[in-house]
Amino acid sequence: MDLATEILLYVSSAVIIHILVFYFVMVTKKKGRNIKDKHVVVTGGSSGIGLWIAVTCAKQGAHVTLVARNVQLLEKALKVVEQHRQDASQRLSFKSIDLTKSYDEVAKSLEEVEEQNGPIYMLVNCAGMAICGVFEEITPEDAQFLMDVNYKTAYNCTRYVLPKMKHARDGIIVITGSQASLLGIYGYGPYAAAKFALRGMAETIAMEASHLGVSVTLALPADTDTPGFENEEKTKPEETKIISGSGGLHKPEEVAKKIVSDALNENFFSILGAESWVVTLLCSGMAPWGGFLFTVLQAFALIPLRIISYFVRGQFTSIVRKCAAQKKLRQEVKEKKSN
Ligand SMILES: NC(=O)c1ccc[n+]([C@@H]2O[C@H](COP(=O)([O-])OP(=O)(O)OC[C@H]3O[C@@H](n4cnc5c(N)ncnc54)[C@H](OP(=O)(O)O)[C@@H]3O)[C@@H](O)[C@H]2O)c1
Repeated sequence: MDLATEILLYVSSAVIIHILVFYFVMVTKKKGRNIKDKHVVVTGGSSGIGLWIAVTCAKQGAHVTLVARNVQLLEKALKVVEQHRQDASQRLSFKSIDLTKSYDEVAKSLEEVEEQNGPIYMLVNCAGMAICGVFEEITPEDAQFLMDVNYKTAYNCTRYVLPKMKHARDGIIVITGSQASLLGIYGYGPYAAAKFALRGMAETIAMEASHLGVSVTLALPADTDTPGFENEEKTKPEETKIISGSGGLHKPEEVAKKIVSDALNENFFSILGAESWVVTLLCSGMAPWGGFLFTVLQAFALIPLRIISYFVRGQFTSIVRKCAAQKKLRQEVKEKKSN
């Protein structure tokens, strides 16, 4: 084959591949959902990621209800959301609810929210927080609190909206997990347990409800610059900071925009950044993530990534050993000084 024929073959196959990819993208592209004039409830909407999700939804013309406990914070947050209203007819409000209370109490409060702003079309479960520490250092009370504030809050709200959405054959549920929903990380024991529980819940309701028009998105934010993150840093062991801090700190407005966009495009996982993509891929199991072509691409990417993960895990283990050796040394110096 001469050079000219080779070039012609190369160019024509490149053109054919591009046409096929373009055709595939156009045919399979889902028309995103629209929340204009729809009622969105954001739990944890008074702060951090939840507040920015509320702002993003208000910008898209939705009626938004912020839910959290502290009324002063809710009032302040509502003023921020108000600045982004698109339309005078938009109903923007808040409701103070402790979502860790019994299901009946939470359901009654959500009924009142619906009486005021209409049926909930999109529920964003964002209330939650982390307390870090080595497993046995976190008190049983704090471990129970973490399960309540992360899992029970989302369970209560989802349990309330899901049958109504199934009946209406329409609706969106967002559940905010974390990278700790995917893998156990040093210092995140009881928090990871609660976030793993949310992943189980999200995968289950996605299977039970997607054929009835209800889409489910599991958001898996990495470290994000919020008041909650600032608080989490206070209890974070050195090992956790080194292991989880390598990915940098995201802006809450970017994370929020991505979560809303993924929810409206009916993507099961919502992730931001290459590192999160790799971790999610490694831990995705049988989760409903992408179509057939994307699954085939994932399968090819998984082979080298699984091998790389062996070495990354080894690096984590060596960080833990190094920190333990340094702690031992510091302890010995302290004891010597006190003798
Ligand atoms: N920031 C990060 O780096 C990061 C990373 C991964 C995952 N996440 C997850 O993302 C979500 C939001 O995190 P964030 O950092 O934005 O948190 P944040 O700034 O601390 O905000 C937490 C929100 O939850 C509300 N809340 C807490 N307990 C509640 C309860 N019992 N009932 C109702 N509302 C309650 C808080 O308001 P009140 O206290 O007034 O109730 C507040 O509005 C959490 O689920 C968190 O685990 C965050």
